[in-house]
Amino acid sequence: MQFLKDMRSKLSLSGIRHIKGPRGLNFIKLMFHFKRDSLGALEETEKQFGEIASYGWPINTIIIYCPKLIKQVLGDKNKIYVKGAQTDEMKVVMGEGLVTNNDRTSWLRSRIIVSKELGPAPIALFSKIIDDLTLQLVKKWKSQESAELDFSLEMRNLTFAIAGKTLLGSDLTNEDARIVDEAVLFTSKMAHDHMFELFPLPYWVPTKKNKEFHFHNNNLSSIVSRLLAQEKENSNESSARSILQRLVYAKNPETGVGLSDQELRDEVITLLIAGYETTSNTLSWIFGLLSKHPEVQDRLRQELQESPEEITSINFKTTHPYLYQVILEGIRMYTAIPMSSRRNLKEDSFNGQKVPVNTSVVIPVWNIHRSEKHWDKPLVFNPSRFEGVEVNRLDHYLPFSKGERRCVGENFSLIEVAIIVSKVLLSFELELIGTELPRAVSHVSLKPHKGMPIKIKETLR
Ligand code: HEM
Repeated sequence: MQFLKDMRSKLSLSGIRHIKGPRGLNFIKLMFHFKRDSLGALEETEKQFGEIASYGWPINTIIIYCPKLIKQVLGDKNKIYVKGAQTDEMKVVMGEGLVTNNDRTSWLRSRIIVSKELGPAPIALFSKIIDDLTLQLVKKWKSQESAELDFSLEMRNLTFAIAGKTLLGSDLTNEDARIVDEAVLFTSKMAHDHMFELFPLPYWVPTKKNKEFHFHNNNLSSIVSRLLAQEKENSNESSARSILQRLVYAKNPETGVGLSDQELRDEVITLLIAGYETTSNTLSWIFGLLSKHPEVQDRLRQELQESPEEITSINFKTTHPYLYQVILEGIRMYTAIPMSSRRNLKEDSFNGQKVPVNTSVVIPVWNIHRSEKHWDKPLVFNPSRFEGVEVNRLDHYLPFSKGERRCVGENFSLIEVAIIVSKVLLSFELELIGTELPRAVSHVSLKPHKGMPIKIKETLR
């Protein structure tokens, strides 16, 4: 029945035709373009239709390319917007975790609890783990023959090891880690691809791919549930180290109530999926950009060599200003989440044009971050453009989104990226293999097509 309901809502083409957008053959061409290359299709749509474009299939969707309208959706009127149908696709894996939860009361309850466990005190402890695991990798690189590495793979392994320790805790065996890694990749990619299917098949249809999906999804769920049960049986609050362990004991300070078993499972899987691929891809792009721009690399290395402070908090923004600017510029050019979506619970209007209830509104962050309307020479890697700039005030800078649904792991990921970049750069000089960075593709988060090949050479100190 749900399937029929979904199809009916997908078929409701009415209501947004007054907003310009592709129709007829052009529509079919662009839909295929989206399936093949969603970033290219977003660019083509803006070129053809400007600030606002409507798509009537598979669901009523409006893409907004204008920061003023994005501010309306994410900020001024955020109470009437919930996560969009594109995000709903992830529910099949993430359940009602923070990313997908559209019930404001339970979302807020969880958000307060999770924010605290990703606050400055736990991060200071986690920074030691990030430091140790990065130094282990640096040591391994120093001892191996090959100087040519795929940073995409190296960063995925490193950030997964960090997520394993900081999020799931040290009880995770190597075999569990392998299963979780495979499951996260498979399920999140499949749920993501579902968004761009013209006729998406429901997950209960017993196709080979669906069966594989359920196999991985069940594996992920049962390992997380087992770790949670183990924690409840054997440990106590004072020994809680990982985010998973901390969440088991965490209580909402106002009500004294903690998370239910189902909420715990959903939040842990959500944090795992939302956290490690985004950070790993961000690192790959930043290392790619640094290896292509030796002058930026040298200036950054000099700052790192001259800064005695260890990075353990978000305070690195002031102790290592150029490092912070490099990260800001890296995530501007290669934003990990190239588009996000919302759905309106009440009628709204964009520049005087009616937006009916339940329209999916897509925010194409990739385009906003690379538009000449908002940035001087947007395709040039220039970290200094952020010197003295308060990025939270920029409506056209959205790597972690804006408003109350902005990323809860922002500081955690910024610190993780800062530590890893600094440890690697203090030990190695990086040189891009080839002349251009790989093409960016949107696979849940923005990743380099066919890896990020970089040559490393030990620095002379
Ligand atoms: C460079 C790394 C990261 C980037 C660029 C990033 C980006 C984002 C963005 C853009 C959103 C909003 C999505 C939307 O509006 O639909 C988001 C939400 C979220 N992120 Fe991140 N993220 C990163 C790392 C992390 C990490 C490390 C964690 C967890 C440890 C995390 C957990 C979450 C969660 C739970 C949400 C949902 C928040 C809510 O709706 O209340 N993210 N992230």
